[in-house]
This record gives sequence, C-alpha cells and structure tokens, in this order.
Amino acid sequence: MTSSFTRRLIHWQKTQGRHDLPWQNTKEAYRIWLSEIMLQQTQVQTVKGYYERFLKRFPNLQILAEATEDEVLALWSGLGYYSRARHLHQAARWVVAKHQGKFPESRLMLETLPGIGRSTAAAICVFAFDAKEAILDGNVKRVLARHGGVRGYPGHPNPQKALWALAEKRLPKKDLIAYTQGLMDLGASLCSRSRPQCDNCPVSQDCVAFKEGLTQELPERKTPKALPQKTKICLIVLSPAGVLLEKRPSQGIWGGLWSLPEYEDTVDIELICRQQFGITNVPVKALKSIEHGFTHYKLTLLPIKVRLRKVALVNDPARWLKLSAVAEAPLPAPIKKLLLTLNP
Ligand code: ADE
Repeated sequence: MTSSFTRRLIHWQKTQGRHDLPWQNTKEAYRIWLSEIMLQQTQVQTVKGYYERFLKRFPNLQILAEATEDEVLALWSGLGYYSRARHLHQAARWVVAKHQGKFPESRLMLETLPGIGRSTAAAICVFAFDAKEAILDGNVKRVLARHGGVRGYPGHPNPQKALWALAEKRLPKKDLIAYTQGLMDLGASLCSRSRPQCDNCPVSQDCVAFKEGLTQELPERKTPKALPQKTKICLIVLSPAGVLLEKRPSQGIWGGLWSLPEYEDTVDIELICRQQFGITNVPVKALKSIEHGFTHYKLTLLPIKVRLRKVALVNDPARWLKLSAVAEAPLPAPIKKLLLTLNP
C-alpha cells in the first residue's frame, strides 16, 4: 500500500503537478531556502512577486548578509510575519561569518539556523541536496492525516508524532523531489480543506478518510478549551414596590446594567436576608437555574425568590423596579427573561 502510494503520487506529480514555479528547476540552496521561508505562511501566488524582487536586490547569500536589516525588511514589506525576514537575514550573516558562506547541507545543521524548523530544513535538503528527508507542513499534514486516517489535532504531540512517523515511513527510495513536490501539490490542490476532489485524486482508492467518509472530519480541528464554570446565587427580592435591583459596576460583565443582587454560591442566603433586610422567616423559594455563556466563562445563576410584606429601604446603588417596567428597563437579557416569568 505504502509503495503504491508513493508510486501513484510521483506519477501524478510528474504528469499533473507544478513544474515551473520560480523556485523549481534550480539546485541553488539560497534560492530554495528563500522560497521555503516565504512559503511558510504565504500562498504561492503572493510569494511569486516578492520572491523575484527579493532575488533581484539580494541575488546571493553574500549580498543578503551585507545588507542592513531595514533594507531586507523593506523588500518583505506587505508579506507579513516579519520575523521571517529578520531570521533570514540573521541566518545569512551567520552562514557567511561562521560557515565561510557555504550553506549547511544536513537537515540537522539547517535546523540550527534561525527560522528553519524540521519541515523547512527537510524541504531544502530534498530540493537542493537530493536528500531523503520527510516534510510535514500544514498541507502535508492534511494529506497524510486523511490518507492514513490519523485522528487527533495535528498540532498536539501524539498526532504530530504519528504524522511524522507516517511521513518518514512513506518516503520512497528514489524520486524524492517529485514525491515531496507531489505531497505539496496535492495538499494545495485536490486535497483541499473544505472541498477535496477525491474523484480525481491519485491516492483516494486507499485513503482512509475517503473510504470512511471522513474527509470533513480529518484532520481534526483543535477542540476549543472548556470554559471555566462559575456558579452564583441571585436574589429576587419582591416587595409591594417591585423587584430589588443593583447597578452593576461599569467594568466587568453586564457593566452598568441593573441586575439582581448576586452572591457566591457558598453564602448562607437566609443569613444575608436577615442581615440586609432585617427579616426572619421569610419564605424562600429556589427557582430553576439559568445558564449563560460569556466569552471567558460559563455562568450558572441560582435564583432564589423572597417576598417581603413591606417595602424595605434600600440604598444606592440599589433600587426597586415595578415588574411592569421590567420589559423596558436596562437589564441583562437572561435576567429580564426570568423576571418576566414572575407574577406581580
Ligand atoms: N509550499 C511550501 N514549499 C513549497 C514549494 N516548494 N512549492 C510549492 N508550495 C510550497
């Protein structure tokens, strides 16, 4: 299966892949390195123009090393992720100063240069030095996760390890350039994230995601972090004057709105009623809890209803609001909804 995967991919690349990108058909490590850095976070179409202009101004490593950082950044301007340009420049200076201007030729040596990770180092080694090295950029992760049926988010350690192992295992003995380019080409065309064209894919016949109908599920997306959960008690104090509300501090959730008094869920609510309203033996009724999602946490409100026979005096920033006025008042939506279900 593995050998036929590589055979079909290589054949597809040779017949239907890309062959005249500006950084192809050269063995010059400097040009290949530059292309791989520019392509790390930018689409091929955008890179093309920047690549040509950059090479015109800095045609080789020596000239790049002699330039100032500002000159390098100026030619990167508009491409974004400027640390790429700074690292490129630093790496050029380092190679000139410490390596007599000779580009390192092993993957591990390349990985010691700023801005060059394992996959970029491997791509440079394959294209410039005909090495047998595995790449694993974002597009290739998608191809391999689908074809090999690798579960889990590829950015997490275990799936990532499994993908690297698969990438290594599938390396062919020869035709490494066509194979590596084939993985990139497939990921950039037929094996797209949202609309893969499996009918035209050279390796769909043994692709796990295709066979099991999982192309939309693989590669898995990062699971959003579970939001912290907070639980608060809120008091619905009713009196002949209406419901008791407090103005919330302007900072924080529901800032500036009028809402029910809130307490930690650990408080003794009867004690609070006694202390705040001087009342004992008021009938206390727990209502159905309210769930509300904020961007940073989930809030569960436990409403407790108490009914006062007489109007208690309250101080700013608290007030009584007639239930008939609730609909028009500046209250948080879930609180308004809750209060509208109460009988006057
Ligand atoms: N993306 C990363 N490296 C690439 C390359 N050499 N050709 C096309 N796309 C790429």
